[in-house]
Amino acid sequence: MSDLNARDAKVIQYLNEAYGKERHLEQALQAHIGLTTRANYRKRLQEHLRETKRHGDRVERRIKQLGGSAERLPLPGPEAFSEAAETGMSVAQRALALARGPLDAVRGTSESEKMLKNAKTEYSEEAEEIATYTAIEELANKVNDKETAKLAKDIRREEERMASFLQRMIPQLVSQVAKEEIPAPLRRNGARTTRRRTTTRRSTAGSSPRARSTTRSAATTSRSTSRRKSSGRTKATGATKTARRSRSTRSA
Ligand SMILES: [Fe+2]
Repeated sequence: MSDLNARDAKVIQYLNEAYGKERHLEQALQAHIGLTTRANYRKRLQEHLRETKRHGDRVERRIKQLGGSAERLPLPGPEAFSEAAETGMSVAQRALALARGPLDAVRGTSESEKMLKNAKTEYSEEAEEIATYTAIEELANKVNDKETAKLAKDIRREEERMASFLQRMIPQLVSQVAKEEIPAPLRRNGARTTRRRTTTRRSTAGSSPRARSTTRSAATTSRSTSRRKSSGRTKATGATKTARRSRSTRSA
């Protein structure tokens, strides 16, 4: 590559970044497909695996046409699999994970959670690829390399389609996780803060406007008292005691 001019050398450098990513993603996608039980998601991953292989081949061809050689990124070392070790995997499982390539294939708790985590990882990988091909296209345009610019644009569009599929898939996977891991009554009740507010409203609903305003002023006093407490000054007033009683009623 020493006799390359600065223009082609720079284009080849960027193309090689894309090439390494594509080849790495081939492995990641294969592992993810093995863990994906949801039919529509699995089908799209298989389709994107075929696209990814094609991307790698096209980029490799272009690198060679420009007089360079396609180079793979070094594979992740054992330190990349420390998360797998932390999850209490056996030596055999870790070896399998290592053989399969990506770390993200072995994490998560439930099957749905694993699919969700993998989808989030895939989404970030797609974003990185989109950025990489955007940069290649712009560089190629700047140096009047039309063929490379067209190649980068074609591939970027496919990555964008995959990213938008994942953006739609992530909420579906979250809803699957929620259904499987959180009992229906808890899902219906909503978050704790919302429930507390509802309880407070209900407890004052039957009282007179005057009583409600007293409760509000007691709560205000309680808040300002806590502020005083934190600055070292405490004075228990009647209103504070009311607020304390009301707090303990709420938490009971
Ligand atoms: Fe790709």
